[in-house]
Amino acid sequence: MSTANEHLAGDALIAGAGLAGLFTALKLADRGRQVTVLSGVARPGGATSTWAQGGIAAALGPDDSADLHVADTLAAGDGLVDEAAARALAEDAPARIADLEALGVAFDRRADGSFALGREGAHSRNRIAHVGGDGAGAAIMKALGQAAEAHPNIHIVPGWNAADLIVEGGSVTGIMARGGVEPDAPTLAVRADTTVLATGGVGALYRVTTNPPGSRGHGLGLAARAGARVADVEFVQFHPTAIACDEDPAPLATEALRGEGATLHRADGSRLMEGVHPDLELAPRDIVAREIAREIARGGTVLLDCRTAVGARFAERFPAVHAAALRAGIDPVTQMIPVAPAAHYHMGGVVTDLTGATSLQGLYACGEVSRTGAHGANRLASNSLLESIVFGARIADAVAGLTPGTSAPKAAPQGGEAPKGPDPHAAQIMHLRTAMSLSVGVAREAGQLAATLDMIRSFDADARPEASGYRNMLAAALLITAAAHRRHESRGGHARLDYPQADDALGRPLPLTLDEARAT
Ligand code: SIN
Repeated sequence: MSTANEHLAGDALIAGAGLAGLFTALKLADRGRQVTVLSGVARPGGATSTWAQGGIAAALGPDDSADLHVADTLAAGDGLVDEAAARALAEDAPARIADLEALGVAFDRRADGSFALGREGAHSRNRIAHVGGDGAGAAIMKALGQAAEAHPNIHIVPGWNAADLIVEGGSVTGIMARGGVEPDAPTLAVRADTTVLATGGVGALYRVTTNPPGSRGHGLGLAARAGARVADVEFVQFHPTAIACDEDPAPLATEALRGEGATLHRADGSRLMEGVHPDLELAPRDIVAREIAREIARGGTVLLDCRTAVGARFAERFPAVHAAALRAGIDPVTQMIPVAPAAHYHMGGVVTDLTGATSLQGLYACGEVSRTGAHGANRLASNSLLESIVFGARIADAVAGLTPGTSAPKAAPQGGEAPKGPDPHAAQIMHLRTAMSLSVGVAREAGQLAATLDMIRSFDADARPEASGYRNMLAAALLITAAAHRRHESRGGHARLDYPQADDALGRPLPLTLDEARAT
């Protein structure tokens, strides 16, 4: 039986303990605010951010500037980037990198002390600050996790997942959280003066993904169910080069490999990207992913050749990819790596302004769950961790400027119970993930999208009202699929086989509510 408890979270309640959640928490806590972080996992650091390989984009080199970073972000975003958001991202980036260094993150540097900046697709300069070769996410999350756990103003509450927003008098006043497997999991009502969603993305709604299993669109779904504005949800980024093996999630072969000169080949050895884009393997991510998907759909295989570009340096420069390749039975020093696109990042989400505020009073959103407008239809590589820290700091500025609340946090409640027994929705979730990969993947068309919409609606109709987590996941899947069905063009991360060209008249965000998605 579920039990309802009440908990006061202080000045701010943050749902999610990834980079967006912990960075925002630290920024607020340093200004004397009392912050509670709901973490669905036992310890902070189990989030998608931890898995990030490439690093953080920032104009740190002598040949670079915020203007160039903005220009590359706009070009990659295929006509849908909000320039003010891209400018915020690029201009705040160096200061936020300095914040991470102050927290103990040791970015890789050259012998002369300058940043060792890597290159990734669609960047006109070497701009990626990395850590331990391909371990940026893990190193950053370790530093932030330690800082947050040690901070007297931060109260981390593990084992509870955000399930529903509490909306009172037209404002968001907190979160109804759940511990354990629904529908019988205990509930906890957590109230705070300000609520921040930092729940991550949607990749694990797909059968083939680079994201951990928790990335199932819960935050997007719960915000949309409460009436928050969402946008650009049809734009899902498929990373071109996940290692094609049986692992779920699929291990990533970071784009930094192509930045070092690794090349993509068909099974007959010919270069895949020749004649497709002048930047070849370093074309924008959507273009490379589509070309790989097309070759695989033809029955071909695509291979990433790192032998000359990285060769014997592999284990030292890319230890995470090296280990993953060996697990898949490939020695990347001497063999090519079979690759395939995998759901990786969500450009769309809960609409925010430049302070991270959503359309709901009292609610902010940060990181992948948000739609700041900085990514448009296709995110520029390594702008994702950057968005979390830039907008986390902006949210902290905005919230710290509010009148301090009166709700001092109580001692943290006991964590939610660990899930017991099998997930009662496991079969539906596997059907959903398979259908999303097949029909809402790299290439989409009306008939398959309509069939998947029907399937999601029937799951939704059968869902028990108290199964909030499952309903949030279905809401996110419904929004993505309905938006993809409705956008009759191809642009960025949204490619329609039946509408293969971009349509200038559609070059803007197309608003969509959950009710409209249900009626599609
Ligand atoms: C990668 O390392 O290729 C991923 C970086 C990103 O998603 O921006």
